[in-house]
Amino acid sequence: MIHLSPSILAADFANLQKEIESVQEGGATYIHVDVMDGAFVPNISLGAPVAKSIRPHIKGVMDVHLMIEAPERYLEDFKVAGADILTVHLEATHHIHRVVQRIHDLGMKAGISLNPGTPVSLLEPIIEDIDLVLIMSVNPGFGGQKFIPYSLEKLMQVKALAQKHNRLDLLIEVDGGVTMDNAEAIIKAGANVLVAGSSVFDGKAATANAKAFVKLFES
Ligand code: DX5
Ligand code: ZN
Repeated sequence: MIHLSPSILAADFANLQKEIESVQEGGATYIHVDVMDGAFVPNISLGAPVAKSIRPHIKGVMDVHLMIEAPERYLEDFKVAGADILTVHLEATHHIHRVVQRIHDLGMKAGISLNPGTPVSLLEPIIEDIDLVLIMSVNPGFGGQKFIPYSLEKLMQVKALAQKHNRLDLLIEVDGGVTMDNAEAIIKAGANVLVAGSSVFDGKAATANAKAFVKLFES
């Protein structure tokens, strides 16, 4: 099963409830929440209070992507906010294994994200301990960027690693520059959760855009 995880980074922040409802009406089963601190990435977005406010309007999975330095400082806050999946960057902490353990102890699924320049091989020692791998297909920080083609190769490497470790349940997520034009190739490469920001929240047709993705997934 393939899931669409619309990124609210591209939504109208003054109308988050309405925006979330509109993509859920289109069949989105996840909602992707991008948290940026202005240090790990050159942009600031939103934090745990906003995640907590939107939680009651999310019917499916709240998929939180922390693009912050030393994410270990905020794991509890996002548990309280209602995150189902908490994804941290491998590059953002000295103690990735401890962070993953702590996320699990708090009762959430744990994800690890890799920047475009970070090799998949670094996941080998921890692949059996995590629920999700998030391959960044743009440099994190901003929506609306172009998909980096090598990301397809990295998705295939993640899939092979998952198979090697008998992790057929691993969620393989891709984030950045996902469109209706490259979604098929992305799925073929191994992704099963597709984040899409600007290609879903385009200011007018969010429900129809989400529907089109979901239809493509079913075909
Ligand atoms: C990028 C974020 C993405 C972003 C995707 O730093 O992690 O989730 O919002 O936006 P699009 O789909 O517009 O590339
Ligand atoms: Zn993201």
